Parts: sequence; structure tokens; C-alpha cells
Amino acid sequence: MWPLSRLSIAALGFCSGVSAQSPYTNSSDSNYFLPNTTGVRLQHGFETVLVQPYGYDGFRVRAWAFRPPSGNEISFLYDPPLEGPGNSNAAPAGFTYDTTIDGSQNLTLRNGNTIVRTFSPNGDNVTNVRFAFYRVDDDGSESLLTNEYAPIKSINPRYYEWTGAGYEFSAAFSFSTTPDEQIYGTGTQQDHMVNKKGMVIDMINFNSHIPTPVFMSSKGYAFVWNSASEGEMEFGQLRNRFTSKSTTLVDYAIVSAPVGDYDTLQRRLSAMTGRAPTPPDWSLGYLHSKLRYENQSELIQLAQNFHDYNIPVSMLVIDYQSWAHQGDWALDPGLWPNVSYMSQRVKDLTGAEIMASLWPSVEDASDNYATMQREGYLAMTRSGPGTTDSWNGSYIRNYDATNPDARHFLWSNLYEHYYINGIKNFWIDQADGGNLGEAYQNNGQSSFIQSLPNPISDALYHAGTQKSVGKLYPWAHQQAIEEGLRNATGTEMGTACDYVSLSRSGYIGSQRFCSMIWSGDTTAVWETLSAQVASGLSAAGTGWGWWTVDARGFQGDPTVSWSNNIDEEPYRELYVRWQQWTTFLPFMRNHGSRACNTQSAYTCDNEPWTYGAANTPTIVSYINLRYTLAPYLKAIFAQLSLTGRAIMRPLYMDFSVSDPNIVEMTRNNSNYTTQQYMFGPRLLVTPVTLPNVTSWDVYLPKTLTGSGNGTREWMYW
Ligand SMILES: *[C@@H]1O[C@H](CO)[C@@H](O)[C@H](O)[C@H]1NC(C)=O
Ligand SMILES: *[C@@H]1O[C@H](CO)[C@@H](O)[C@H](O)[C@H]1NC(C)=O
Ligand SMILES: *[C@@H]1O[C@H](CO)[C@@H](O)[C@H](O)[C@H]1NC(C)=O
Ligand SMILES: *[C@@H]1O[C@H](CO)[C@@H](O)[C@H](O)[C@H]1NC(C)=O
Ligand SMILES: *[C@@H]1O[C@H](CO)[C@@H](O)[C@H](O)[C@H]1NC(C)=O
Ligand SMILES: *[C@@H]1O[C@H](CO)[C@@H](O)[C@H](O)[C@H]1NC(C)=O
Ligand SMILES: *[C@@H]1O[C@H](CO)[C@@H](O)[C@H](O)[C@H]1NC(C)=O
Ligand SMILES: *[C@@H]1O[C@H](CO)[C@@H](O)[C@H](O)[C@H]1NC(C)=O
Ligand SMILES: *[C@@H]1O[C@H](CO)[C@@H](O)[C@H](O)[C@H]1NC(C)=O
Ligand SMILES: *[C@@H]1O[C@H](CO)[C@@H](O)[C@H](O)[C@H]1NC(C)=O
Ligand SMILES: *[C@@H]1O[C@H](CO)[C@@H](O)[C@H](O)[C@H]1NC(C)=O
Ligand SMILES: *[C@@H]1O[C@H](CO)[C@@H](O)[C@H](O)[C@H]1NC(C)=O
Repeated sequence: MWPLSRLSIAALGFCSGVSAQSPYTNSSDSNYFLPNTTGVRLQHGFETVLVQPYGYDGFRVRAWAFRPPSGNEISFLYDPPLEGPGNSNAAPAGFTYDTTIDGSQNLTLRNGNTIVRTFSPNGDNVTNVRFAFYRVDDDGSESLLTNEYAPIKSINPRYYEWTGAGYEFSAAFSFSTTPDEQIYGTGTQQDHMVNKKGMVIDMINFNSHIPTPVFMSSKGYAFVWNSASEGEMEFGQLRNRFTSKSTTLVDYAIVSAPVGDYDTLQRRLSAMTGRAPTPPDWSLGYLHSKLRYENQSELIQLAQNFHDYNIPVSMLVIDYQSWAHQGDWALDPGLWPNVSYMSQRVKDLTGAEIMASLWPSVEDASDNYATMQREGYLAMTRSGPGTTDSWNGSYIRNYDATNPDARHFLWSNLYEHYYINGIKNFWIDQADGGNLGEAYQNNGQSSFIQSLPNPISDALYHAGTQKSVGKLYPWAHQQAIEEGLRNATGTEMGTACDYVSLSRSGYIGSQRFCSMIWSGDTTAVWETLSAQVASGLSAAGTGWGWWTVDARGFQGDPTVSWSNNIDEEPYRELYVRWQQWTTFLPFMRNHGSRACNTQSAYTCDNEPWTYGAANTPTIVSYINLRYTLAPYLKAIFAQLSLTGRAIMRPLYMDFSVSDPNIVEMTRNNSNYTTQQYMFGPRLLVTPVTLPNVTSWDVYLPKTLTGSGNGTREWMYW
């Protein structure tokens, strides 16, 4: 199915301003500065802070104020990281240290080109109990990256508070910043921003909001707040602050690189949090989905149609309500009588894989309910009744993704009911945790109650409460499918993937799984299309390379009459534009719930040939283009896997050194920087996000060789 001419990776020279930088150093260079400690422990009254060299050019900091950590705390950081100096000092196992201080001593530690130094909060030298981080530049000078925020009169930058029963505490750690710093990453939100400076971001998951405390700074460092707790990220003028609402340990990592060298920061981050494996070749083709194909004969007919229209397709998707009961994790045999026959038929007709949706919810009519309740595989609540929600008249409880036995139970159902029958890819929908992943949405009460005014934080999991470990839930759900697929295919984590999952959420290091993240349930209007671009660029900054969207918007906007209606010309135009864009995303996936004038709701078409005869050739031409990009796609995914080098590349990644305008435009999130990006080394991409246009302004960034400058009009059609 693929045109198999292979482009070698080496042939893909990156077009980049960064190449002007002196190459970064590491331990293969003889002048690399090996870390001169295994760790330092500051004992400051009751409070303990442990600072250890971590990987290349990095430090890991852990802090607690009363009860020492057990060593079994949830962590999204590898210990040791995947790459680091051969010197074992940079590969700390656990809580090792060779130096103890009490705050009355000055201290400087160095790992590679990063220095950590104590300083006194009051500007005198009485107690040196704050830490500052510096980068050593090529000329030997030092640049301050950030320090624990310490004006003379301010709340302590390491602030702990016991707010509830037990020893779990809330922690708020503050770091200095300057008004000109730019912040990239932080997971995904729907806010049109690539630079998150000035934002306060709630660290609570919900549909289309995946806040994740990983960021890169324009000052040349990256930072990971390694906590599973719900909380907050604040990026102020003078202070950045990270809050965990309920935790037993504070844990963060910081790593430096020359200013503008974002590939190195991504390499360092991915060494700490996870390297993406390579996806199966087939998954780089056209992935087709809608809400929803309802039964076996309809799915086979769909495959027949792709075959008859001679349109290539690599995956067909079975959406929700394909089960008899939520939590069966099996197709309803009344609708899908012969699954292995169906998957073989689809394969014969199109070569395509099948993906099936699963929800984490279990209703009490499911055969699995009693077993799961008995074995402790269902999430409970502190108030008693379990993570109650209701869906279509049935009460449901969520399976507990944080429980390894529950993960295994889920997988054994999927294996038995889908995998051995030829459905080997899984869509983990509603994966966000809390209630059905809609933290504030009220599925149970009247529809005019749109959003709950209180947190749904009292869910109780194997690993803790929603408040203390809620950010783990979607990650552990991805892990459930990863563990299962790795077992079934007899492959090791990190190696090439044979099959994939698709998740609505994720967290620090989710890129280590054979799992794509999509941007959630979006509305089918132009404004939403435009917002997805910045969302994807933030995903890239966070380290998630396997990113995708519901092409053409998931659902209708009730205030826009044509939204999502396949028979309305304005929607057809949006559909075509959105689909063109997805050709240049890591995965090209079409999904949504469609309306129409000629069929009953929920059964409306969403296939390439159903948007008007005039549009079909355009739609098909982009699908075909996607397949001709196969060698290029494979090469950029291979780079991502080897070194963490981003696939979707916000312009700051390649041009902030060579083109000062890029830095300035990124600062205020100008549309050129939230809507344009490099897709790999060679393609500059910007989607058309307005109706009725035949030309589009594009900013051509300056490269070091001076080609390209300023704004030009490009003809688009
Ligand atoms: C170490 O540096 C060399 C170039 O100096 C580079 O080729 C290599 O990829 C680097 N390794 C790591 C792990 O960063
Ligand atoms: C710590 O460093 C400061 C600034 O360099 C210096 O003034 C002070 O004497 C040092 N204190 C100790 C205890 O060495
Ligand atoms: C580590 O190296 C730095 C930079 O050379 C030096 O300033 C510092 O004193 C050293 N610290 C230790 C504990 O050896
Ligand atoms: C710093 O510490 C040194 C040694 O303890 C002391 O002599 C000096 O007066 C201190 N300086 C200040 C500004 O406190
Ligand atoms: C399958 O679904 C299609 C579309 O909803 C419907 O027309 C058809 O009757 C269904 N067939 C069966 C066997 O349920
Ligand atoms: C499924 O279909 C295959 C091929 O037609 C047939 O051999 C098999 O018996 C069917 N299985 C069931 C359970 O109907
Ligand atoms: C609710 O479930 C019933 C089957 O129990 C199904 O027929 C119906 O389509 C569902 N309705 C919605 C809105 O999901
Ligand atoms: C898969 O898991 C089962 C236990 O559930 C185990 O017996 C088997 O060895 C595993 N297979 C691989 C390839 O890891
Ligand atoms: C953003 O900054 C650029 C470059 O400084 C400037 O041209 C543009 O007008 C600014 N846009 C906004 C909305 O402030
Ligand atoms: C430009 O950005 C703004 C938000 O800053 C957004 O509302 C608008 O849709 C964008 N325009 C285009 C053409 O994408
Ligand atoms: C597009 O342009 C046509 C003709 O100029 C006009 O009739 C139509 O309303 C426009 N559509 C939108 C969505 O602006
Ligand atoms: C941009 O480049 C073109 C072609 O190289 C050149 O003619 C033009 O003067 C340049 N414009 C600016 C503003 O540098």
C-alpha cells in the first residue's frame, strides 16, 4: 500500500537557525563537565531538600517538610534518565547524596553546562537556603535561568500546607521569571497560545484540556513538575508557581541548553520523561472514523465503498455504543455477529486495520460489574457511591486505571473479545479521569445545568484520591493498553509499535506509549479549527509527537446553523479546509458526529465522497498526497524516536536564532506563530482558517542563509 521509496534520515538536513549555535556538549566531548557530586541534602529545620545531578546538564530536586518519602511515590521521570554522562554521578538511583548542608554554607554544584548554587533569600549571607540555576555559556560566562523566588518580603518559595486529614500536604513552589521570558508547552488548552506567559492554568483534566507541567523557556531551559496531583501552573511577570493540591513529595527537574536550541531541550526532556517509539507504517495513512458505524454489515459496506471508490484507507473505527453494556469491553453480538470475519473482510477489501472505542465506565448490568466491585477494580468515592455518573439512563462506575490488576482485567477482556478476532487498535475515549472525563460536565441532571460549580475530586483510586493522583489516571489508562499490546505482540516498550491506541488525554511522558493523543471533542466552526493549530504546537513543546485532531470538528455548534451539516455549503468548505490541514499532522484522522438534511441525526455520512461531487476530488487528492508523503513521515517519526526531535515544529524551534521577528511575534502569539509551523525539516504549513478566501498571508522566516523574508501572499487553491 505504501510507495516504498525510502528517504534516508541523513538526507533530511534540517533547515534551521539552530545550526549556527556551537554544537552542545555532552560526555562524548572530552571537555564535558562531569557532575561533581551525587547529590546534596539540605536539612533546614524540619524541611529537607535533595538536589541531584540528573542526565546531561540537568538537576532533579525533591523536597519534603515532615515525613520522608518512601521511594515508591508516583513518578513520570526515569531514574536514571535514558541518556546521561557515563559517570554514575548523573545516574542517581533513588535518594543518594554525598554532601549535607544546613543552610549556613555556600554551595555550588555543576553538571555539564548547568550550575546550581545556593543563595541567601535576604541578600545577606546568613542562611544560604535558596537554590539558583545557571547555564554556563560557551565563553564561560553564566546566565541565570531561574532561582527560587526570593524577594525580601514574599511568601516562602517552598511553601507547604496541611489542609486535610493525614500527612498529604499541598505544595506551592515559586521560581523567578522576567517579563520577557516565553513559556512553551504545558500540555494542551484551547486558547490560541503558543507562548503561555501570563497564563494561569488549572491542572485538572477535562475534555480538550490536558494541562501538563512540562515547559521550555526562551531563556534556554526546560522544566518538569513531576507530580500526579491536581493543582495549578502560574506564569506571572516575576514569578512562576507550581501548585500540587495534595501530595507527599515535591519533585521537579530542570535542564539547560543554549538559547534557541529547542531540539536539545526536547532531547533532554524526552530522555527524562519518555522517547516515542516509531508508529506502524500503516498508521501514517488515512484513518477514517465517524460517530458512528452501528453494525457489522455497515462497516463491511464502508470498506466495500472505499474499495469501490478506489480511495486508500488505513484504519476504520468503531465508536461507542457498540457494546451491549458499558464495561463489557466486547462488541454487542447482536450487532457484530462475527468479528473475525468482519476484520478479515475489511482487510481483504482495503488493507485497513480496525480500531474500537472503549470507555472506562462500567454499568451494573455488565457481566464484569460484580467481579470488578468485589476485586476492587472500580474507582470508589470518599463519600461512598463510587465515581457515579449516569449515561443514557444507566449509572456507571469507572474502572480504576491506577490499579495494575484492574488494568490487566481490562486488557484480558479486550484481548479475548477484540484482539484475537482481529481488532487490535483501541480508542481510549473519555479517558480523562474524574467522572466520565468531563470534570465539570453534568451528565446526570437536566441539560440546562451545563457545568458543575464544584470539583469532582473525591474519587478514590488504588493510588490515591482524584485530587492527589488524578493526573495519573489517563496516563495509566494509556499504560493499560500499552502493557496489553506489548504482551500480545511479544515486544518491549520503546521498540516499534505494531498497533496503536488513541487517547483523549495524557500526561508527562505519555509519548513513551504507542498512543496518539487527540485534541478532544471540538466544535465544527472556523474558530475551533484555528485554535487546534496552537494546541498541537503546545503538544509538541510538551514532547507529545503522536498528536492528532478530529478533522472537521467533532460536533455541531448549536449557535451556528450550518455547523457540522454535510449538506450545507459553508460546512463543506470548512470540512475541506480542515481535511487539507490534517494531511500535515502526525496522524491524518477524520472523525465526528455529523448532521444532514436528508438522513436522521446520528447516521449522517462522513465519508470522503459525501461532501458534494465538486469537493470529492479535492478531498481524495489530499488523502493521496498523504500516502505519497509516507517516506517523509517515516523519516520524521524516526527522528522523533531517536532524539525527541519534534515533528510539528512551532516557528520558534527553528527560527528564533536566525529571525528576531519570530521571537517577537511568538511573544504576543501573533497568528503567524500560532497558525504556522514546520512539519519536519522541509514543509512550512499553515491551514486556511477563514471562509471564502483564495489567498493567504504567510510569513516566511529568515533562515541563516538569508532566503525567505517577511510576509508574502501565496496563492492557495
Ligand atoms: C553528544 O554530542 C555529540 C556531538 O558532540 C552528538 O553527536 C551526540 O548525539 C550527543 N549525544 C547526546 C546523548 O546528546
Ligand atoms: C557565601 O557567599 C557570599 C557571596 O559570595 C559571601 O559573601 C559569603 O561570605 C559566603 N558565605 C560563607 C559562609 O562562605
Ligand atoms: C563543582 O564544580 C563547580 C564548578 O567548577 C565548583 O564551583 C564547585 O565548587 C564544585 N563543587 C563541588 C562540591 O565540588
Ligand atoms: C558574610 O559572612 C562573613 C563570614 O561569616 C562575614 O564576615 C560577613 O560579615 C558577612 N557579610 C554580610 C553582608 O552579612
Ligand atoms: C446496520 O446499520 C445500518 C445503518 O444504521 C442500518 O440501516 C441497518 O439496518 C443495520 N443492519 C443491521 C443488520 O442491524
Ligand atoms: C464467522 O465467519 C466465518 C467465515 O465466514 C465462518 O467460518 C465462521 O463459522 C463464522 N463464525 C461464526 C461464529 O459465525
Ligand atoms: C440509549 O440506549 C439504548 C439502548 O439501551 C439505545 O437504543 C439508544 O440509542 C441510546 N440512546 C442514546 C441517546 O444514546
Ligand atoms: C503475557 O502475559 C501472560 C500473563 O498474563 C504471560 O503468561 C505471558 O508470558 C506474557 N507474554 C509475553 C510475551 O510477555
Ligand atoms: C505582536 O508583535 C508584533 C511584532 O512586534 C507586532 O507586529 C504585532 O502588531 C503585535 N500584535 C499584537 C496583537 O500585539
Ligand atoms: C488569529 O488569532 C486569533 C486569536 O488570537 C483568532 O481568534 C483568530 O481566529 C486567528 N485568525 C486566523 C485567521 O486564524
Ligand atoms: C462567501 O462568498 C459568497 C459570494 O461572495 C457569499 O455569498 C457568501 O455568503 C460568503 N460566505 C461566507 C461564509 O462568508
Ligand atoms: C526579501 O527578499 C527578496 C528576494 O530575495 C528581496 O528582493 C527583498 O528586497 C527582500 N525584502 C526585504 C524586506 O528584505
